[in-house]
Amino acid sequence: MRQFIIAGNWKMNLSVDQSVALAKDIVEISKEIKKTSIVIAPTYLALSKVADVIKGSNVKLACQDIHWQDQGAFTGKVSIDMVKDLGVEYVIIGHSEQRQYFGETNETVNLKVKKTLSAGLTPIICIGETLDERNGGNLESVLSAQIKGAYQDISKEEALNTVIAYEPVWAIGTGVVATDEQAQDTQAFVRSVLQDIYGEEVASALRIQYGGSMKPDNAAGLLGQKDIDGGLIGGAALKADSFFAIISAAEAQSK
Ligand code: PGA
Repeated sequence: MRQFIIAGNWKMNLSVDQSVALAKDIVEISKEIKKTSIVIAPTYLALSKVADVIKGSNVKLACQDIHWQDQGAFTGKVSIDMVKDLGVEYVIIGHSEQRQYFGETNETVNLKVKKTLSAGLTPIICIGETLDERNGGNLESVLSAQIKGAYQDISKEEALNTVIAYEPVWAIGTGVVATDEQAQDTQAFVRSVLQDIYGEEVASALRIQYGGSMKPDNAAGLLGQKDIDGGLIGGAALKADSFFAIISAAEAQSK
């Protein structure tokens, strides 16, 4: 039985004060949510204050990236221990914006996944194809390389403590959402690649989120698909009511 996981990726939005205010609203509004994992990923600068706000609630903290080194001369970077100290439990890794603008590769994703797991935190591993890759018939080869790259040298036991976010790049921030069928077919493929690597037991236990223009009006349809176990939400996570509507859609269909 896979529990739904709804995560809000706030990206480079919201000041520290705005982050604290939104976190307070989410804690308040989701008090009665019992079955769905709720995760929020504010800017690093707000992690400490947001951690205080969500303490003792059912809302968990994520950060949006980490560096794979423990410490040293890596200007601008943040290590896993730094975020762990603040109460971070999940780390978003390999987001398409990181891949597109900041040189993230399947190799750096793998290094970050290993570092996150070694610290006992849960990576949310983002994968997804561009429209050109999909239209060019390369959907499966691209996703397969991203998955195999991310999980290189990761044991079965470690893999069980990961979450995947399938996010078609063409759907992120565009308002163009994958159809229920496109998302389901692709996520079933993702699960089949995991099965090839780790076997049936691990593949059927791993949670695979959908991300890319998930909104209150399309969440129920997407979350109703067999291989969709949650959402990684950008735009709709920036307001408590729309984020909560998606959480409620998950809670209503909790498996
Ligand atoms: P979006 O972003 O919901 O705004 O499309 C999703 C994401 O980038 O994780």
